[in-house]
Amino acid sequence: MSNVYVLDHPLIQHKLTYIRSQETGPKEFRELVEEVAMLMTYEVTRDLPLEEVTVQTPLTQANCKVIAGRKIGFVPILRAGLGMVGGMLKLIPAAKVGHIGLYRDPDTLEPVEYYCKLPTDLTERELIVIDPMLATGGSAAAGIKFLKDRGASHIKLMCLIAAPEGIQRVQEEHPDVDIYVAAVDERLNDHGYIIPGLGDAGDRLFGTK
Ligand code: PRP
Ligand code: URA
Repeated sequence: MSNVYVLDHPLIQHKLTYIRSQETGPKEFRELVEEVAMLMTYEVTRDLPLEEVTVQTPLTQANCKVIAGRKIGFVPILRAGLGMVGGMLKLIPAAKVGHIGLYRDPDTLEPVEYYCKLPTDLTERELIVIDPMLATGGSAAAGIKFLKDRGASHIKLMCLIAAPEGIQRVQEEHPDVDIYVAAVDERLNDHGYIIPGLGDAGDRLFGTK
């Protein structure tokens, strides 16, 4: 069974509070989502392997470390996942970004795919699937399956807020995928929204309704 990491760093929790608030308008909401995504990336990449290198300082040689091995890929689930990419690229600018377009059918709550563009060397990369909301888990589970069907095998999932139902579904369908969240909320309401949550992440990011 995969691990669930709740990233309880005070900066993440502080910013998440303002992301949740309905008083926070789109500009500030976008900025905060980017900032939290950047801070979460720091934790999500904590286990990246390092290798030894030697550099010449102005004084002498120093034995140092650089990140070794697999390359990184970010895979935002459209649309709301886009709001997190900018912050993550600030930390890892060399990451490649794939996009998976999924929307949740409002009646069935099941994901519907409408777009996909992925790096050609997907199978060589450590992939981080990103979406602010893990509600029923349908979109994240479908996005991860999409990547696995194309040969990807090293996948993590990073979300701002998760419902217990969503965590359970991803763990059942993808027991190899570790999940990183800033908060696990109480439950889903009858329309599949996370309670207390933050509302509709896509609408708040992009000013739609
Ligand atoms: C939201 C959110 C997730 C999905 C979560 O997207 O960004 O992708 O719902 O719900 P689930 O866990 O029940 O699948 P939405 O379908 O509203 O599309 P959008 O990002 O284009 O607004
Ligand atoms: N998608 C959202 O944007 N918010 C929720 O609470 C659930 C799904």
